[in-house]
Amino acid sequence: MNERAVFVTRFGGVLAAVGSAVGLGNVWRFPYETGAHGGAAFLLVYLSCALLLGVPLLLGELALGYVSHKNPTGTYRSLAPGTKWHYLGYAGAVCMVLVVAFYSVVGGWTLCYAASSLMGNVPDFVEFSSGVWAPLAWMTLFFVVNAVILLGGVAKGIERASNFLMPLLFLMLVVLCVRSLLLPNAVEGLRFLFKPDFSKIDGSVVVSAMGQSFFSISVGIGCLLTYGSYLPRSAKIGKSALAIALLDTGIALLAGIIIFPACFAYGVQPDAGPGLAFITLPNVFLQMSGGMIWCFCFFLLLAVAAVTSSLSLLETPTAILQEEFGMGRRRAVIVASCLGWVLSVLCAMSFSPQWSEQLSFGGMIVFDIFDKLTANIIMPCSSFLMAVFIGWKLDKKVFADYGITHRADGTTKWYGSLFIMAMRFVAPLCIFLIFLSGLGLLDGFLK
Ligand code: PHE
Repeated sequence: MNERAVFVTRFGGVLAAVGSAVGLGNVWRFPYETGAHGGAAFLLVYLSCALLLGVPLLLGELALGYVSHKNPTGTYRSLAPGTKWHYLGYAGAVCMVLVVAFYSVVGGWTLCYAASSLMGNVPDFVEFSSGVWAPLAWMTLFFVVNAVILLGGVAKGIERASNFLMPLLFLMLVVLCVRSLLLPNAVEGLRFLFKPDFSKIDGSVVVSAMGQSFFSISVGIGCLLTYGSYLPRSAKIGKSALAIALLDTGIALLAGIIIFPACFAYGVQPDAGPGLAFITLPNVFLQMSGGMIWCFCFFLLLAVAAVTSSLSLLETPTAILQEEFGMGRRRAVIVASCLGWVLSVLCAMSFSPQWSEQLSFGGMIVFDIFDKLTANIIMPCSSFLMAVFIGWKLDKKVFADYGITHRADGTTKWYGSLFIMAMRFVAPLCIFLIFLSGLGLLDGFLK
């Protein structure tokens, strides 16, 4: 067995977890889902899910890894030996490969936009994304970048990259926010984002908002469990979980404040779909002096944010292949990346008119199927099971002894029992009810 890598510093480890959470989910997926589901009403449910469910689940997931120092499968195996819980680890890894498949297509778009703005002109989104070779080539480049960093090892690769690039992205988003708010009609965009119309809330809005909140903080499938397992013993898990969720949600809000005013200023429909950010943002840059340079920097930083997320998606299947199947690091990285790449080809091609018919099922293209299936169904289901595991199966002493719920002197931390309540009742019940509402069974109550 390979020696396990650890993050060198506590801060670096937490930043890498932030790197996993902050990515295309905030800047690309959040605005497009919010736009597609009516704006502020969606935002409200999203925020409630992120804070009420996301934070405790995140704490639980990080803690599982921190306690076990193993990959998700190994974690469940060591904490509940002789049971079937470890399949949850495998299921999470499969979900990660599905996420990485469509995520890398968007990562490829981001790289392409960065490179083309350097050349002085940004492609037309529909024309570009429905092509064959260009999206494939950029997506492949995205995979290569990931694989190269992963082969460099956990501590060196991930930690170094996230340490200085994340704050830069944040600064850039703040600048863009100001620019976007000065556009004509910006108020309309803010109204769309912040003034809820409760009649718009139905089962599908609630399910999608929950899915988006879990997707955005990377919770439920074991990415953060793996990162938690690399944290040094000095880590403060509770504070980290809160910081990650708040930062992530803040960045999504910033992206919304940039994109929706721009939609209304340039007459782009908020429900334009997955291309929303790629259609609206270049318009904002063109308003700025040196617009193409801004555009370049922005898409480059976004690509970096995307890479720090996709690294977390590839790291866990890699760790499982290494630690559960005895593969060497190099082979594990290559197997995980190739698997993701093959599925990614299907996602990328499902946008192309030549293939979209073969690559759609039930009226949805493969890209959308992977996207909705993972975020709206698998991640909440697996979060549900994780909460049940922590709340009902795991011996409470484990989290107490490792200082998650209790202090060293044996007294309970202020959130100790709240956390356990969240795992036992609140999270499983809320996720269950949200699914019921998605099936339309609660519509009578919600209308
Ligand atoms: N949270 C990441 C983002 O917002 C995406 C992601 C989802 C990463 C699931 C890991 C697991 O971009």
